Amino acid sequence: MAGRVVVITGASSGIGAALAERAAAAGDAVMLVARNEARLRGVAARCGKEAHVHPADCTSRLEVRRAVAAAVARFDRIDVWVNNVGQGITRRPSELSEEDVELMMRVNVHTALFGMQEVLPHFRDRGTGHVINVSSMLGRVPFAVHRSAYNGAKHFLNALTANFRSEMQEAHPGIVFSLVSPGVVYTDFGKNAVHGGPDSRSFPQGQSAEEVADVILQVMETRAPDVYTRPGSHDRVVDYFDQVGRDPA
Ligand SMILES: NC(=O)c1ccc[n+]([C@@H]2O[C@H](COP(=O)([O-])OP(=O)(O)OC[C@H]3O[C@@H](n4cnc5c(N)ncnc54)[C@H](OP(=O)(O)O)[C@@H]3O)[C@@H](O)[C@H]2O)c1
Repeated sequence: MAGRVVVITGASSGIGAALAERAAAAGDAVMLVARNEARLRGVAARCGKEAHVHPADCTSRLEVRRAVAAAVARFDRIDVWVNNVGQGITRRPSELSEEDVELMMRVNVHTALFGMQEVLPHFRDRGTGHVINVSSMLGRVPFAVHRSAYNGAKHFLNALTANFRSEMQEAHPGIVFSLVSPGVVYTDFGKNAVHGGPDSRSFPQGQSAEEVADVILQVMETRAPDVYTRPGSHDRVVDYFDQVGRDPA
């Protein structure tokens, strides 16, 4: 096995599926995790023989722990763990229920928290490892009012990623954490949002899942801490904070 061992959650469709195919084509062994086994098998069939399928619901810590064990049993090690599971919501903040908020936290935060915590003992034992968390531009700037609790959950994920990085930096400098923030991506994300909503493919200036996958592959090489997938995103973020935040005069 020449390349890295890469575990990708949310690999049955969209960005995760595209990343699995791109990583496999680059020579990596991939383990694909999501709930829908049939779809995972379809993706794996396009990834070659070093692809392993592991159905799991990543909102369950136990199932994530089992996924870590399955990857180590199959490949002897994990080099990169990509927390890519995520789900949107279509609901304005004034209409949010407690259940909406809890669901957004479970699917967008707990899944990544469990991934980071459950792979950590393996990375500590090896003294090396790379976690990549797939966030969103909406995790930095809450542009889309109708995504409300999703934006909040991704903001939480961003903070958690930065704090994990700081915690590990001193004692385990070989363990690194990257955050990747796409803008609109033409996947089923919009259609899969809680309470329905517009298809992501109906928005202008989106990226393909393959373009985003290529950026994530680069991050595996550079181990950069914080990366936007769409050119111009950094300037949009700076403009936003220039307008909303001011020191007292
Ligand atoms: N598309 C966009 O516009 C966009 C923009 C910014 C950020 N993102 C982020 O990119 C990531 C990937 O989204 P996508 O666009 O590829 O959407 P997608 O096509 O809806 O993919 C979501 C993936 O997550 C899996 N998943 C959902 N809940 C799960 C659970 N409880 N346990 C295990 N797997 C679960 C789904 O598979 P199963 O149903 O088989 O479990 C699927 O593979 C997400 O974190 C999303 O927030 C997307």
